[in-house]
Amino acid sequence: MYASNLARIVPQNCKLSKPRERSQRYSRTCPQGGRRAHQSLRVYATAGVNRQWILKKRPEGSVHTGDLELTDAPIPTPGDGEVLVRNTYVSIDPTHRIWMSDMPQYMPCVELGEVMRAITVGVVEESNFDGLEKGDIVGGLGNCQDYYVSEGAGLDKKTTSVPVQDHLNVFGVVIGLTAFYGTMKICQPKAGETFVVTGAAGAVGSLAGQLAKMAGARVIGAVGSQEKADYITKELGFDGAINYKTDDLDEKLKELAPDGVDCFFDNTAGPMLEAVLLQLNNNSRIALCGLINQYNTDKVGVKNYDMLLMRRVTLRGFICLDHIEYFGEALEMLGAGVAEGKIKYKTDVQEGLPNYIDVVNMLFDGSNDGKLVLKV
Ligand SMILES: NC(=O)c1ccc[n+]([C@@H]2O[C@H](COP(=O)([O-])OP(=O)(O)OC[C@H]3O[C@@H](n4cnc5c(N)ncnc54)[C@H](OP(=O)(O)O)[C@@H]3O)[C@@H](O)[C@H]2O)c1
Repeated sequence: MYASNLARIVPQNCKLSKPRERSQRYSRTCPQGGRRAHQSLRVYATAGVNRQWILKKRPEGSVHTGDLELTDAPIPTPGDGEVLVRNTYVSIDPTHRIWMSDMPQYMPCVELGEVMRAITVGVVEESNFDGLEKGDIVGGLGNCQDYYVSEGAGLDKKTTSVPVQDHLNVFGVVIGLTAFYGTMKICQPKAGETFVVTGAAGAVGSLAGQLAKMAGARVIGAVGSQEKADYITKELGFDGAINYKTDDLDEKLKELAPDGVDCFFDNTAGPMLEAVLLQLNNNSRIALCGLINQYNTDKVGVKNYDMLLMRRVTLRGFICLDHIEYFGEALEMLGAGVAEGKIKYKTDVQEGLPNYIDVVNMLFDGSNDGKLVLKV
């Protein structure tokens, strides 16, 4: 249903950013044991085999070789009303690190021995479901593997009027809807207000900042490098950038937000959150979207928490999956922004399912350049 909306919103001839293809990365070693482990590195699938990343161990810190194992399984057969899908792109999201842990979380964690969970887009190979046929592009929870079987009714048929990777980026629930919901429904920036976003050059953060610009706010982004600071100010039109690794956060924030902060879209928590809390205006709004600063570490407390009371702040944590009813509205706004050139986005395409571990870690060292996806 969203596919047809999107085809209408984003005309075939509108300028869409091309995904950036980077050099292939190869897994370093292949641990043995369990199901048949890979003896040699294969970037591409072998006919008749379903490669699957199995969670073997809960990571400590970043994800290491041995935490997951790449195994071969038979390709599953679809039953009545079911569809066989071949994954083409796996969405690489910071939440993979949450799912790998057994901390209390917003959906069940991935159990040891299970295929690693992931959102994917893929091609229908075989269909026993009336609404889908071979060759259709579908999105779903396809996991880190080549093939999966799903009930046809549970799959989201995608339009081919945009590049397929964009369904995991600006036109997807996890990125597009998240940026839209946190910005427009929680922060609700108004013309003249100051909006701060962390993870500002990333997939969600870059869209959130641009949506706030469209609403007329002054937008300040926090990033981890000068290159990303240049990108958000020179290419995306943000009004200021803070390098959270090198700047004096309190001083820089006071300089860039002399009238205080009205809206905060937080993707990271950590020192930037603590600095922003001190600059909040009365009745300011915080969209708590992510805590990437803490996904690889033990939980830590938050300094300046008292400012939530002192400044009468509304803070709302949210999960995009709870707000699917706004997806159509999000696509309208994002599609219009893209078509008018007010919204830009990048996709960082990495190649080869066996490189999953290296690729997921890119989110945590900041080496991803835009929405990270893995071409299967
Ligand atoms: N609530 C929801 O429904 C929902 C949905 C999607 C995503 N999210 C959350 O949104 C956030 C962004 O996700 P994304 O997919 O758009 O990823 P992303 O921003 O494209 O990539 C992650 C970025 O986080 C930054 N980062 C990594 N470690 C950091 C640290 N210790 N402190 C500060 N920044 C750090 C890095 O950028 P720098 O180089 O700038 O450090 C990295 O490039 C994540 O927290 C994610 O969990 C939430």
